[in-house]
Amino acid sequence: MRTHDAPHAAAQPHVLDVADVVAGYGKNTVLRGVGLTVGESELVALLGHNGAGKTTLLRSIVGQVKPTAGRVLLDGADFTGRPPSATAVAGMSLVPQGHGVFPSLTIEENLTLAAATGGKRGASAATLADSKAFAFDLFGILKQRPKDRAGSLSGGQRQMLAISMALMTQPRLMLLDEPSTGLAPVLVDEVLAAVRKVNRELGTSVLVVEQDIKRVLGVADRAYVLKLGGLVFTGTPAQLEKRDWSELF
Ligand SMILES: Nc1ncnc2c1ncn2[C@@H]1O[C@H](COP(=O)(O)OP(=O)(O)OP(=O)(O)O)[C@@H](O)[C@H]1O
Ligand SMILES: [Mg+2]
Repeated sequence: MRTHDAPHAAAQPHVLDVADVVAGYGKNTVLRGVGLTVGESELVALLGHNGAGKTTLLRSIVGQVKPTAGRVLLDGADFTGRPPSATAVAGMSLVPQGHGVFPSLTIEENLTLAAATGGKRGASAATLADSKAFAFDLFGILKQRPKDRAGSLSGGQRQMLAISMALMTQPRLMLLDEPSTGLAPVLVDEVLAAVRKVNRELGTSVLVVEQDIKRVLGVADRAYVLKLGGLVFTGTPAQLEKRDWSELF
């Protein structure tokens, strides 16, 4: 018999749990009650047409947009409407659309700045060195040119640097907003393979927004499709392959 005060076995919370989120800009409601989850070490793709609300959802999760209803939980703790500084300290790291690198700083300076300003403070020098080494192993091109200014890098290299910057904070949940936009197909594969490697080798949970549906389905465990601010599909890549895409996108 269960009594009110007896502890009962709670289900393991998801790393990210978004429930019934309503959000937008002023009077323009973009998200009309969206719920999704990302599990431990899961890589989840968030898909949808231009303007569907994907970026708005990522912003609502990390606190750049305040939901007017619904809940955003990280490891079961409520972060709804908390500022980006709080979600970053708790372990969320967003790689924004158009990658947020500092063009006038070198690769190395960008990484140092990311470690100092994002996520948990006070990570040991050894931890930071490990994160940097992992990023440099992931993207050899950055390791070869640490003193180059970010502004001199190609689009693909900037994206690699932006992902590396996110890694410097040892995130629990990495959110990526269209990491492959504007990249040649071979670089799309390289960037997505690197995201998968981070997910597999570090156990980082990932929510990735992507336009290149075919390619992201090759690395995702699960996918959601957002249309006009509401979810129209949740399932595995194999299940999505079988659906009529003209209804979803
Ligand atoms: N800062 C803003 N102020 C007002 N409206 C905005 C703002 N950002 C986005 N919107 C509107 O919100 C809606 C959803 O935009 P959002 O950027 O979330 O879409 P998206 O799915 O990320 O699209 P894309 O694939 O083009 O990046 C659009 O109608 C857009 O015009
Ligand atoms: Mg967007």
